[in-house]
Amino acid sequence: MTQDDIELVEAARGAALAAYAPYSKFPVGAALRFADGSVVTGANVENASFGLALCAETVAVGKAMAEGHRGGLLAVAVTGPGPEPITPCGRCRQVLNELAALGGTDPDVLCVGPSEVRTVKLSALLPAAFGPASLD
Ligand code: THU
Repeated sequence: MTQDDIELVEAARGAALAAYAPYSKFPVGAALRFADGSVVTGANVENASFGLALCAETVAVGKAMAEGHRGGLLAVAVTGPGPEPITPCGRCRQVLNELAALGGTDPDVLCVGPSEVRTVKLSALLPAAFGPASLD
């Protein structure tokens, strides 16, 4: 892993500490790295109405876009509490794809476990994606 990737993994682990996951007790952290060097983090935010839970990756994308990011997404790290790396859920893949597509990038997704990081391209997690260009 590059130094940038190591720092992104640490950012995701740090973000998970702020997860609000009292119902699932499954804290997730996410960190996005952009071409300008900035890193935006997110954590899952659950709700007493269970189905309204927001995933860490979706929170991170929402933060990033609300800060003005519209592309340049180079890498995403996601970390869960279990013994194995987790991959972004289907909805988060779609949400990540929107931001990636705006800038024409295919980010690395770093799936982080306690002792292992598995890296996969977003396009491999979401092949034949529906995106902004699909509406043209
Ligand atoms: N979760 C995420 O934050 N990201 C994912 O990609 C998978 C699931 C959260 C949602 C919920 O708060 C908890 O993990 C258990 O599903």
